[in-house]
Parts: sequence; structure tokens; C-alpha cells
Amino acid sequence: MAILEVRDLIKQYRQSDSVITAVNRANFEVEDGEFVAIIGTSGSGKSTLLHICAGLLTANSGHVFVRGNDLTAMKSSELAAFRGRYIGMIFQRHNLIPQLTAIENILVPAMMCNKPDFSYEESLKKTVAALHIEDRLNHLPSELSGGQQQRVAIARALINRPQVLFADEPTGNLDRENAEEVLNLLLETKRTLNQTLVMVTHDMNIASRADRIFKMENGMPIPYRLDKSSGTPLS
Ligand SMILES: Nc1ncnc2c1ncn2[C@@H]1O[C@H](COP(=O)(O)OP(=O)(O)OP(=O)(O)O)[C@@H](O)[C@H]1O
Ligand SMILES: [Mg+2]
Repeated sequence: MAILEVRDLIKQYRQSDSVITAVNRANFEVEDGEFVAIIGTSGSGKSTLLHICAGLLTANSGHVFVRGNDLTAMKSSELAAFRGRYIGMIFQRHNLIPQLTAIENILVPAMMCNKPDFSYEESLKKTVAALHIEDRLNHLPSELSGGQQQRVAIARALINRPQVLFADEPTGNLDRENAEEVLNLLLETKRTLNQTLVMVTHDMNIASRADRIFKMENGMPIPYRLDKSSGTPLS
């Protein structure tokens, strides 16, 4: 079953006298439990597409269905509750709240979404340990390195154990060894939660581990095949 369905999505940005079409009739589906990578050149609309799919940005037209629920038809309060329950997002630029400590940032989604019978404490302990940020929890984002901020943002995205995780360059600020470690954590979380993962990445080593790859071309995600043995594109 498709857990994410995108239909005829269009997003335009208006700037004084010009219009940029960032997403141009995007149509695709992601199956429950799949890992999909989105690649494409800078400015091709990857972040815009991901934000709309996560219910964080409004499209000009088209629909996004998550578990059969049309995000584009929801009232904002309904959408916020739905997002808190089912959707996680790792932003390209962290988006940590500067006045809150790492632990307070991590707990923001938990505060906004009351999941009965759910142990945040246990989820927090595991995630924080796996990300090696136990000793940085009481610091402000400005007191953390770029890589540590990235890890805090990842912990925040995972705290509610979302069924669908959108990750925008989650390893972008990390060196190869750390990127590998974070990717393995995301894939391990995905396996244990039977999560669906949609990840924007420019790293072809990471993209090659996805079940499917889309390449954004002129605002449209196009299926992209990789010759896994040589790592070179087939189309
Ligand atoms: N808030 C905005 N207002 C106006 N134009 C925007 C806005 N956000 C993005 N754009 C434009 O929309 C296009 C797509 O931007 P987007 O951030 O989605 O690209 P991207 O593929 O994520 O790029 P990158 O790889 O650099 O992160 C770009 O031309 C960008 O300049
Ligand atoms: Mg981007």
C-alpha cells in the first residue's frame, strides 16, 4: 500500500515581477516501509517538495495523501496534530530553536503531541545514546558544533517515532565516518519501526542504498536507475 501519494503538485514562488516554479506537476507514490532517495541539482525543488509532503508548506495546487489522508484538505490544527502523530522531519538547516537547550529542542514534538501509552523517556534514552549527544543535552544550539546540532535535529525528528520520516540532507554537515554512522542509525530506526524514509541527498553512496531514487528535473521527480555494481546512472 502507498503510504505517501503525491498528485499533480505545483508550487510557485513569486518574487516581485518573476515567478519560480519550484515543483511542477509532481506525481509519485512511496510504499509503506520504503526508503526513497531524492537527488537533483541545487535549486531543483527538493526541499520545497519535501516540505509540502511533510505538511509544512502549502502548494498552489495538487494533493498529498499520507496514509490516505489528504494533507492539503486539512485545517491547520488538524494538520498539526496529524504531523505530530505520523510525520517526522529533519531540516536541511536544522531549524533548532536558539533559546532552547538541546534536550528542550528534542522534546518539542513530544510536547506538541500527546501519545498515550508511549514512553518518551525510553525513546529519548535510546536515540540520544545512539547519536552520542548525552553530554551535550543541556547546552544551547549555539554552544554545539554543526555536526552536534545536526544530531540534535535528528533526535527531535525521531522522538515521536514517526511512521514517515522526511530527511533533507541529514548527513550534509557530517564527515564520511559520521555520515555513515547517522545513516546506519536512520536505517536501523526505519527497520525497527517499520518506518518509511524519504531522504534528499547529494551523496550517491547514500542514494545507492535506497530502494528507489528520484531525480528532480525541472521541478518534477523522475525515477532514476543506478547501476549498483558500477555506481553509474543507467538513465
Ligand atoms: N521562500 C522562497 N521564496 C522564493 N523562492 C524560493 C523560496 N524557497 C525556494 N525558492 C526557490 O525555489 C527553487 C527551489 O528551491 P529548493 O530550496 O526547493 O531547492 P533544493 O533542490 O532544495 O536546493 P538545494 O540543493 O540547494 O538545497 C529555487 O530556485 C529557490 O531559489
Ligand atoms: Mg534544499
